[in-house]
Amino acid sequence: MSETAEQVQEQEIDLAAANEILDKYQGMQGALMPVLQEIQDHYGFIPEPTVHLTAERLNVYSSQIFGVLTFYAQFHLEPRGKYIIRVCMGTACHVKGAGRLGDTVKERIGIGHAETTEDLKFTAEFVACIGACGMAPVIMVNDATYGSLSVQKMNDIVTKYQEMD
Ligand code: FES
Repeated sequence: MSETAEQVQEQEIDLAAANEILDKYQGMQGALMPVLQEIQDHYGFIPEPTVHLTAERLNVYSSQIFGVLTFYAQFHLEPRGKYIIRVCMGTACHVKGAGRLGDTVKERIGIGHAETTEDLKFTAEFVACIGACGMAPVIMVNDATYGSLSVQKMNDIVTKYQEMD
């Protein structure tokens, strides 16, 4: 059975990988950003204990690191879903009905912007232009792009991912 977001948050985080990452950057200038990126790549998000470890090892305050993490949208302090559904809400997509695609995500999966399902299968993000306006309205699921979507096609995509592990 897969773990819920809450269980992942509460479970003890194995800091061995974070220590190994920090070992690589020991004594280097400007190490904070690459360290945080590698920690996120490894854990899928930035677990709070790794923030305190990083602070200790790089000799900065945890509060400074939390400041960086909340400033840069690429960092996530909470576990995220296996499938990240990005619904473009840029102008071209908006005028072609992106709002209804977002509604479909809410209705079918039960999550809105920046929310993750309890089973950690899906995270939804309603984002600005993703650079594929010619195919508006557009969504991405992880690295796959889907364009010229109707609500029906969106429903089919949701069904496809719901049926996947
Ligand atoms: S506005 Fe959606 S891809 Fe550009």
